[in-house]
Amino acid sequence: MSKSIRNFDNKVILITGGTSGIGFETARQFIAQGAQVVVTGVSNQRVEATAKELGEKAVVLAADLRQPESLDAVIAEVAERYGRLDVVFANAGAGTAAPLEQITAAQIDEQFSLNFSGCFFTVQKAAPLLSKGASVILTTSFLNSVGTPGLSILSATKAAVRSLARTLGAELAPRGIRVNAVSPGPISTPFHAKLGLSDEQLKEVAAGIEASVPLGRFGEANEVAKAVLFLASDQASFITGEEIVVDGGLSQF
Ligand SMILES: NC(=O)c1ccc[n+]([C@@H]2O[C@H](COP(=O)([O-])OP(=O)(O)OC[C@H]3O[C@@H](n4cnc5c(N)ncnc54)[C@H](OP(=O)(O)O)[C@@H]3O)[C@@H](O)[C@H]2O)c1
Repeated sequence: MSKSIRNFDNKVILITGGTSGIGFETARQFIAQGAQVVVTGVSNQRVEATAKELGEKAVVLAADLRQPESLDAVIAEVAERYGRLDVVFANAGAGTAAPLEQITAAQIDEQFSLNFSGCFFTVQKAAPLLSKGASVILTTSFLNSVGTPGLSILSATKAAVRSLARTLGAELAPRGIRVNAVSPGPISTPFHAKLGLSDEQLKEVAAGIEASVPLGRFGEANEVAKAVLFLASDQASFITGEEIVVDGGLSQF
């Protein structure tokens, strides 16, 4: 009988945006490998549902990452319960699609405050609790290396996060902490339904994506989660500042 793999026994892991999609699946995989996870989301309904779905190995908290101070209660809870963090997966994110002529300053602020500042302050506020040898993983996007009409601001936020993986990696390396990014391609999650497109537009975009992904399909959240667990594990012990792209070849060929 095969023995189950438990690479994260007793590790303490913080996942932002863990109440849906990629973050949720990653939380599930970490728990299956022995970890204790602290997960955040923004909607109270998803926070409650996720607590039930993930069970006793998860603490699930609400925090709106557009307001950095909302992370203080999360970090205080981690400090009180566990006194340390071994892995941080800064993953919460969302986007709005709009063409050049329609983008407003408010839309730019909104997307940068969540996707960039939310990610930055997650790492800044978690940093004092990070153990030696800890691993930080940031969620970027294939959009940071291709040009897609209507997604200029979302793409720019993710290019900024790609840069953070290098800079924060350099800053935290003296403490033996690695910082990497995972870059999802089009993945089947609720993300796309929140872009502000009509059903008709969504169908059209989905068909276009399937036609342009060399592997011919959307990816699954579990395929991104596996890359996150690799980066978090000792198997990636000499990898820092790097980005793993999980996009079926979309940005590569
Ligand atoms: N799916 C894709 O095709 C794709 C492609 C490239 C990159 N990504 C990136 O992957 C990451 C995860 O996306 P996903 O596909 O898993 O999307 P998702 O299913 O929509 O999950 C998004 C997560 O972020 C949380 N969130 C949203 N707004 C927030 C806010 N203001 N403050 C705190 N948390 C907030 C959501 O919380 P609630 O559940 O409470 O709303 C949820 O947990 C994002 O950074 C996204 O940009 C996704």
